[in-house]
Amino acid sequence: MKPRAVIAAAMLAALGTPGASQAQEYDAARARQDWVLNCMGCHTANGSGIPGKVPALRESLGHFVSLPEGRQFVMRVPGAANSALNDAELANVLNWLLATMNERSRPASFKPYTADEIAAHRRPALTDVARTRTKLVKELQENGVNAVPEHY
Ligand code: HEC
Repeated sequence: MKPRAVIAAAMLAALGTPGASQAQEYDAARARQDWVLNCMGCHTANGSGIPGKVPALRESLGHFVSLPEGRQFVMRVPGAANSALNDAELANVLNWLLATMNERSRPASFKPYTADEIAAHRRPALTDVARTRTKLVKELQENGVNAVPEHY
């Protein structure tokens, strides 16, 4: 762990300079490392998940973050909310996932997660994940988005 690098990444994410390139939204090297150590074991290396057990994170999170409640859902699922990652690290991993595995589904208006936003909303972790998810998938379908499967 290099706390300075984490702080630098958080500052870059928090700055959110208009017109900043994607490279400034996240620190890819740190994100990859945090992903490997904290998420990949369940979600698999390329984020495609495990049928019947673990949802894919590819081209689905981009749709979830288009809904205000969906944006919170992504940080409040237990695997993310209760991970060992601190707020800046979790923001960094989520921004990286959105940029590298959800580049097509991510809305153009997407604003990167910040450490402050994560701190304000990650807890309590969701206890009714399935119900919240079903509601969000329905809402997406009402908006004409059928890309997020109801069952995984
Ligand atoms: C122990 C296994 C495990 C780990 C580790 C894990 N997850 Fe998950 N994740 C799941 C499962 C299972 C679900 C389905 C919802 C539930 O039951 O919590 C899920 C759901 C999600 C979802 C919602 C996706 C959807 O379509 O519903 C997101 C986003 C997510 N995880 C992100 C992460 C991130 C980011 C990390 C690493 C910080 C992580 N997860 C670590 C197992 C895990």
